[in-house]
Formats: sequence, structure tokens, C-alpha cells
Amino acid sequence: MSQTLTAQDAVRSDANIITVQQHILNEQRRLSPDASGSFSWLLSGITLATKMISARVRRAGLLDVTGQVGNVNVQGEQQQKLDVWADQALIHCLGVRENVAIIASEESEHAITFDGRTGRGKYAVLFDPLDGSSNIDVNVSVGTIFSIVELPADRKYQTDPTTAVLQAGARQLAAGYVIYGSSTMLVYTTGHGVHGFTLDPAVGAYVLSHEDMRIPNAGNIYSCNTANWNEFPAGYREYMKTLREGVDGRAYTLRYIGSLVADFHRTLVNGGVFLYPATTSYPQGKLRLLYEANPISFIAEQAGGIATDGKQRILDIVPSDIHERTPLVVGSPAEMMRFQATVEQT
Ligand code: AHG
Ligand code: MN
Ligand code: MN
Repeated sequence: MSQTLTAQDAVRSDANIITVQQHILNEQRRLSPDASGSFSWLLSGITLATKMISARVRRAGLLDVTGQVGNVNVQGEQQQKLDVWADQALIHCLGVRENVAIIASEESEHAITFDGRTGRGKYAVLFDPLDGSSNIDVNVSVGTIFSIVELPADRKYQTDPTTAVLQAGARQLAAGYVIYGSSTMLVYTTGHGVHGFTLDPAVGAYVLSHEDMRIPNAGNIYSCNTANWNEFPAGYREYMKTLREGVDGRAYTLRYIGSLVADFHRTLVNGGVFLYPATTSYPQGKLRLLYEANPISFIAEQAGGIATDGKQRILDIVPSDIHERTPLVVGSPAEMMRFQATVEQT
């Protein structure tokens, strides 16, 4: 005697959680039935590392992980202990995924390849292991940002791994971020919508909580470090003055956390616009194209938003250096179209 459960029966039970691994496999089966599952194996390296980072972030005050290491990274910025720890966790977890041939990290000057793996790996992973480092010691949300690209089949990257990862953001296979906030949440896209997973500490798994996330068409929040006001190009000041005065009867308010992941996640959920313009201190912009602006912009566009560098679509920019910086303006269609009409035409 046996009982056959139909798929509908299974879905009815509320214990029926969908983990991010299951979601990726479902997506792969839906989109390419003969998928080997190697992509979900790669993603499990990222989810494992971010669970380790989340556990560390949540105990930061109890462990010796706050504060500075005492040296300056390739960005010319003081490295925080958690920057280094998160970087090592990601390199370790991705290093044991044989389909990852190259890693590019904010914390490493050069692209990283794995000894003896030349020729087999088909993916490169670019990441900002700990975004918002300046907020760690004051217990404000921080994050991890990642971007996944496919490597050229000719495997030429063996001699020049850096060139292999210098791909325009439009070529990303997948991108995502993890925000270590009031909950730990993974948001990712493979080009088929944006999906959010909340880490359930009781289960130790990222569980689907926000399927098919869409950015609101308009919001009432603008997010920018206006301490740099006098350094912004004039058009940006005009644009933000307009928002401050209110548009179509809608008054805007300012929210700025200082962690890109947190400021963007709020923009994705509530709508509005995030701006990090070029300044005199950062004439090319402060945010890094490959592992901050590109993944965030891929997600924004997949959720119905727009992302530019103030002149062109972020995802069209062809990078010339792993750590190159860019201005970033990203948000809801209403705010972004107003921005483009105000600033991009000036
Ligand atoms: P990171 O901690 O990885 O260096 O990134 C910090 C970035 C980004 O998270 C944030 O949007 C921006 O720096 C904040 O810059 P300001 O402190 O200049 O506003
Ligand atoms: Mn960052
Ligand atoms: Mn960082």
C-alpha cells in the first residue's frame, strides 16, 4: 500500500519551504532542462560563505572582528577585520567549486586563479565581500555583493585572467547581494526577475520570502551623501532641489545609510532614487563598477528600475580595470526619467 503525493499536495503543506538552491534548480529546469546543476553548485559556495559572514556579523561585538586591520587595501582604504575575514570566507568557499576559474575581489589587487584549474572552470565571480565597512563598528546594516560572468570558451584567460573578467555588466549571468540587516536576506537575479530569500536561522537555509520583486514605479525618498553637495555637478544639485521642493504634490525625504547594499535595498523595496555622483575627491565616482554598480544595476533593471552613470546605462560600460570606479544613479522609473530629463541633457 503506498500514497502518491501530487505536487499540489506538497505545496499545500506550510512546511514546504523553497530554498535558494531549490529555486535555482527549478529555474534551470524551467529554462534549460539539460542544465547540469553546476551553476547551483557555484551559488551554494556564495550562500555558504554569506551564512558564515552573517554569523560573524551578528557576533561582531563579542569577537575580535571589529576595528581596523591596520593596513590599507588596493582601494587606498583602511581594511576592517571583517573585510578580510569575509574575503577569505568567499575565496575558500568558491575555491572548492571547481567550476569557478577566476575570482576578482575588492580586497585583492589582482584577479585570483586557482592552481591547476586552468581550462576547466567556466565561471568568474566578482565580489565586494563586505560592503559598508565603515558601518560595522556602529552596528548598522552591511552587505556582500556578487556578480557572476561566464568565461570565454577559448580559455584564453589562462594567460590573462584580468582581461577575461573585464566584461560589460550586460553580460552578467547572475548577480546578487546579501544584506546583514534586521534579518539576513539574499536578493539575486539570473536575468529572469529578482527574488529574495530570508535566512531562517532555525533551519540554516535561505528561504524564498520575496518572489519576483518589482521596484515601485515612483517613490518619495532620495538617497545621497549631500555632505558632498558643493562637489556635485550642477545638474545633480538642481535635480535634488526639485525633489526636495516636492514633485506633483509629492514631498521627498532624504535617507542615507552609507552602505550601498542597504541604501539600494530600501530603494528597491520602497522606490525612489539613490545617487553617488562624481565628486572632487572621486572624479570618476566612488563606487566600483565590476562588483558594486554592475550587480546592483542588473538587479535594478530586472526589477523594472533604471541605472546610469549620469550619462549612459551602467550595464553598457566596458570596463578597463578590475577596480575602476563609476558614478551611480539608480532607482524607480519616475525618479530616473526625471533625472535623465534634468541632468543627462545638461
Ligand atoms: P565598501 O565598504 O565596500 O568600501 O563600500 C562603501 C561604499 C558604499 O557601500 C556606500 O554607498 C559608499 O561607500 C558610502 O560612501 P560615503 O561614505 O562617501 O558616503
Ligand atoms: Mn562596497
Ligand atoms: Mn567592501
